[in-house]
Amino acid sequence: MTKRTDYCGQLSSDDIGRTVTVCGWVAKRREHGEFLAFVDLRDRTGIVQCVVDHAHDIRSEYVLAVTGTVRERPAETMNTDLPTGSIEIGEATVEILSSAEPPPFQIDGRVDVDETIRIRHRYLDLRTGRMQQNLRSRAAINAAIRRSMEDQDFVEVETPMLIASTPEGARDFVVPSRLSPGDFYALPQSPQLFKQLCMVGGIDRYYQVARCMRDEDLRADRQFEFTQLDMEMSFADGEQVRAVVSEAVSDATEIITGDRPDSIPEMPWIEAMNRYGSDKPDVRFGLELVELTEVFAGTDFNAFKASTVKGIKVESGADIGRNQLDQLTDKAKSWGAKGLVWIKVGPSGEVTSPVAKFMSEAEISGLLSAMDANEGDICYLVADDWRPVVHVLGLLRLELGRPPVNEGGLRFLWVVDFPLFQDVDDDGNPLPAHHPFTMPHSEDLELLSNSNAPADLLKVRSQAYDLVLNGWELGSGSVRIHRREIQQQIFNMLGINEEESQKKFGFLMDAFRYGAPPHAGFAFGIDRLVALLVGEENIREVIAFPKTQSGADPLTNAPSSIDASQLDELGLRVLPPAT
Ligand code: AMO
Ligand code: AMP
Repeated sequence: MTKRTDYCGQLSSDDIGRTVTVCGWVAKRREHGEFLAFVDLRDRTGIVQCVVDHAHDIRSEYVLAVTGTVRERPAETMNTDLPTGSIEIGEATVEILSSAEPPPFQIDGRVDVDETIRIRHRYLDLRTGRMQQNLRSRAAINAAIRRSMEDQDFVEVETPMLIASTPEGARDFVVPSRLSPGDFYALPQSPQLFKQLCMVGGIDRYYQVARCMRDEDLRADRQFEFTQLDMEMSFADGEQVRAVVSEAVSDATEIITGDRPDSIPEMPWIEAMNRYGSDKPDVRFGLELVELTEVFAGTDFNAFKASTVKGIKVESGADIGRNQLDQLTDKAKSWGAKGLVWIKVGPSGEVTSPVAKFMSEAEISGLLSAMDANEGDICYLVADDWRPVVHVLGLLRLELGRPPVNEGGLRFLWVVDFPLFQDVDDDGNPLPAHHPFTMPHSEDLELLSNSNAPADLLKVRSQAYDLVLNGWELGSGSVRIHRREIQQQIFNMLGINEEESQKKFGFLMDAFRYGAPPHAGFAFGIDRLVALLVGEENIREVIAFPKTQSGADPLTNAPSSIDASQLDELGLRVLPPAT
């Protein structure tokens, strides 16, 4: 094989006159008369045009080494869309290194290719400019994050993949044990327990670019396998953790955009819920929720006799048609609303609404002034308990105003003071909002011990915090419980009795007997960060070999059955599918 001297996309007019050899794939071939052909050759840096004779046996995606002399293109054939468009490789000789069957889809074609076909032939998809760029950006981000953590004196520790179950709340992927038939390892949902053990072990500042596995339904921002930047630090509080993580994500952002984000603002969880109806508010746009409970405090309108009434106003949104309004109402109901009231404001402040007749004049004027609604605006109102109201309006807000992923800049936000419990289950046990190792807010410890009334428990704040970017949850973390008695109390409240906690987390509780430093940490999803930084809507586009929406890998055919002897060895028997 002729030795490569240059990359296709790096040639320029500076190289005119040089004899070069480039290697790559045939992106395009055009005949020119009987003896000449133009071949666009592609490698990881880009495309260059080669003028070759005897191109007849060259087809798309053939692998070539092309040797020739760089020359200026005639003025009329210059291509300003192509970085190498002012030059070409002339009088080129071609060595065919590999032939290729016609690809199942056009590489770098504009047409939308079916997801399964793209993933089945991912090696072809990886040749596209989009995937090449995304994977390079991912590598650059990974490198920047590692550099940042190293500069901040963190030590990378690799934690095991074959472990006992971890407590992140998703289903485990399990691996059967050959040496102990009938027993299983779990794959880590995160390195959570091991990083806490590292703190007991005096590592002081731990980080890891950690692969995590969770068996949960796949979505645009979720895969079974993903990568976290995981970190933990001893003798530190949440503020210090957030400073370290802010530095790392700012370094990563700067590598991609060239701009360093401003210092990342913080917002208490309760404010995020009240203003944006979400614990991961997309603050690239307004449409904030407006409090209207007082306005309707004495209302005769039955639907609004509720503990909470809130609304959002769309400026100049009154020209929306009846059909669309009905669709929005149906959506709101599918999100759990009992209904959706809309009110349009006309020229002299008069309003149009199917329910205007049920509202008093004072209510209407109170609502218009609270919402600062003027001619041409429309207001959407929901009444119910606080949780469903903010939930529905939060989703409606996104539906009505959310910009595409690559517009509106990059708006990082820390959401702090999460509640310790997100809800109470059917047995009356509170459910942890983060995970059971999260330290309650010191000011709320009393609430925790004095009362077990669910309403009070839900008010207990925790020392947990999330990092949000453009409405995506990028990461979560907390100050941890490092004292056995508080940990046991929390386990008890969660309905995890001593025996169960000993079985599941005994090793951590045991470690805490031997001097656990106060510690706090965080993990953010690298897949999500990369997707947002490069402007992709789905993390699959920044993962080299992702799974499809249904969790399958059409490339390798995973998951697949294993043979009987392997099952025997593992002490497993497969039941027929349930009918
Ligand atoms: P958490 O469970 O919130 O916290 O996960 C942290 C971050 O990991 C990313 N992530 C995912 N990314 C892609 N696909 C998935 N299925 C997926 N699941 C999670 C998200 C998420 O914000 N141990 C704690 C952290 C800590 O307390 O230090 C943890 O794992 O970006
Ligand atoms: P109803 O009294 O159920 O016929 O509803 C009258 C109007 O009020 C309809 O437009 C409903 O969509 C709306 N509506 C009913 N309940 C609520 C609610 N809890 N919040 C907002 N709008 C509601």
